[in-house]
Amino acid sequence: MSDFIPGDILEPLLDVADVEVWDGGGHVPRASLLEKLATCGGWLSMLSDTIDAELLDAAPGLEVISQMSVGVDNIDVAACLDHGVVVGHTPDVLTETTADTAFTLMAAAVRRLPEAEALVRAGAWGPWDPWHFLSGDLHGSTIGIVGMGRIGQAIARRAQGFDMPVLFTSRTRKEIPDAVRVDIDELLPRSDIVVVAAPLNDETRGMIGRSELGLMRETAYLVNIARGPLVDTAALVEALAAGTIGGAALDVTDPEPLPPDHPLLDFPNCLVVPHIGSATLPARRAMARLAVTNLFAFLSGEPMPAWLPGSARQRLGD
Ligand code: DGY
Repeated sequence: MSDFIPGDILEPLLDVADVEVWDGGGHVPRASLLEKLATCGGWLSMLSDTIDAELLDAAPGLEVISQMSVGVDNIDVAACLDHGVVVGHTPDVLTETTADTAFTLMAAAVRRLPEAEALVRAGAWGPWDPWHFLSGDLHGSTIGIVGMGRIGQAIARRAQGFDMPVLFTSRTRKEIPDAVRVDIDELLPRSDIVVVAAPLNDETRGMIGRSELGLMRETAYLVNIARGPLVDTAALVEALAAGTIGGAALDVTDPEPLPPDHPLLDFPNCLVVPHIGSATLPARRAMARLAVTNLFAFLSGEPMPAWLPGSARQRLGD
């Protein structure tokens, strides 16, 4: 295990494996990880682990990696296939929580909550002023969802409760109730809020760059709840500095963690939180449970409930 997993969730694994949990605090240093994996058959990994050919070479007995996240951009899945390693992950169980986070960020950014809260804390709360801290409305705003997977669809369902027209992009044709599929070049200028909800891969890296930001409305907000490198950070800093977009709300950034002196933190209209999209206790317990269930299934010779078909063939599942 790369990290702590609650004892009641871990328990079933103890019947089928000798389990070692990293207890060195923080992330497992690379050297320790390579040393430990040299003798492991299975591994419960985190999105902060870089899983590449070097690591797989150092783990000749490794048959299964079960990652406690839905995103697997830290994993070289093709290398896992080459090394005969099956990869599990944790889709579905965090979908609704992450969609809640998207809405929380949208509402906070559009209604300028961070700025308003900072003013109160700074002791600058003056008499009520009808023209102070004005913002746009969340309800009725057009939302453009970039990437209509599970989380994008959960965001679209919530948008309907806020009377928000929904536009979306998707690689594949999808029928989503009351939502219109458009090209990104059409979505960007028509949206009041652009939410990035696509997986990170070679095709999507940097998909929101200078020209895409240039297509957004001057009043529109960019919200990223997927992965930092989907957005070109330098281009976003430029757009915020030039005032060509209304603001941003980011659960994920590139780099991550964001250094305290990073220019993104200079903009009061750029809200940044530290990759907490699925960080509720119920969601994290469900993710841990699914990661353990995936490992348990593999080690028991059963099909894993959530594995990546692009990784090695499952012992029984494929
Ligand atoms: C995931 O599961 O990929 C999320 O980013 C974790 O919050």
